[in-house]
Amino acid sequence: MSEAFSAVEIIAAKRDKHELTDAQIDWVISAYTRGVVQDEQMSALLMSILLNGMSNHEIFRWTDAMIKSGERMSWSKLSMPTVDKHSTGGVGDKITLPLAPLVAACGAAVPQLSGRGLGHTGGTLDKLESIPGWRATLSNEEMLKVLQECGAVICAAGAGLAPADRKLYALRDVTGTVPSIPLIASSIMSKKIAEGTSALVLDVKTGSGAFMVDQEDAKLLARTMVDLGTRAGVKTRALVTAMDIPLGLTAGNALEVRESIEVLAGGGPSDVVELTLLLATEMLELAGVSGKDPAAALKDGSAMDHWRRMIKAQGGDPDAKLPVAKQSQQVVAQSDGLITTMDAMKVGVSAWLLGAGRSRQGEKIQAGAGIEIHAKPGEMIKKGAPLFTLHTDEPERFARSTAALDGAVSISNSNEKVDRLPLVVARIEGNN
Ligand code: URA
Repeated sequence: MSEAFSAVEIIAAKRDKHELTDAQIDWVISAYTRGVVQDEQMSALLMSILLNGMSNHEIFRWTDAMIKSGERMSWSKLSMPTVDKHSTGGVGDKITLPLAPLVAACGAAVPQLSGRGLGHTGGTLDKLESIPGWRATLSNEEMLKVLQECGAVICAAGAGLAPADRKLYALRDVTGTVPSIPLIASSIMSKKIAEGTSALVLDVKTGSGAFMVDQEDAKLLARTMVDLGTRAGVKTRALVTAMDIPLGLTAGNALEVRESIEVLAGGGPSDVVELTLLLATEMLELAGVSGKDPAAALKDGSAMDHWRRMIKAQGGDPDAKLPVAKQSQQVVAQSDGLITTMDAMKVGVSAWLLGAGRSRQGEKIQAGAGIEIHAKPGEMIKKGAPLFTLHTDEPERFARSTAALDGAVSISNSNEKVDRLPLVVARIEGNN
């Protein structure tokens, strides 16, 4: 087939800060997916985009081209409204686990296509795979069946959904081109729009443990994604939320499943419960479901019932014992006083070094590895009292993961105040 453009002219245009035309964008995404544009050419284009940015129109067109590279799912056979949430990723961010069955228990359907861990941040599929028997890969028909029977389904995106993003994402991961607002926004939104949800709540993380450390960058990313969703007819809203300290008291796959089950049982750490309820309220409102109190659904066991059904429907045993790491080691406080900070990035990197995340594509992770947090900012601690328990199957990992926690926690015995972001930093509305 004769090609409409050459990759080199498109790379040169972006290198020289020109706006790409619709035809150039459509072609380069299609040609890359077809293998006509080579990885080294796409790497150069991605780096030019990272350095020179994209106009809003270019971002819309790039996202559309990625959606068109694959199938678009539809949930029109469902009798319930659909709503999803997507987090840009953080440390201890297990919110999807209690949230999806909770929203289902309140009357909206949640078709959630999730990902695996990326760098120091955990992935929903890795967490759920620590439940014996649970399966992440479902056909479209199976996905619809689970959604009809349980009100929520959490699974991996199939190969047919935004294949351009699948290739681009793997390339960005190894070419230093992940932290670009146009590329992150188009990557996330192409998958979410193709997934076919009618409403979407975005949880854009900011702070040391997030990809967008700076609040203004996080707000711009949120606005870009909300505009992309709105333009595609998806009711979209974003909350920019704190990721300066880890969420909850665990970071690591099976540990986070355990904590999520505590939340579904009506307990759990207050920050996880608060964010789960906040996001559930936003999702129900966007889906047009009224008169349901998500807090009541956590207390009366209906969210837990939906969780158990959802896990069983995907082959998991909700009563099975969760994996526990073979070895554990404590890290204790070095002085008395008030805990003023806890660096989410350092905790995330430490959990990753314990074996909770991957250092190479496709590497097997340890389900039981990770960190339990015994005290958080705002609490008093005594010298020698436990701050963290580290878990791993491979004790040789303790030295590096303990070193990664160096300086992660500040303890003050003066009148120093706790230095924290508010849970919700900003709320960005769509106009539909
Ligand atoms: N998650 C995605 O799916 N894509 C990105 O670029 C970043 C996070």
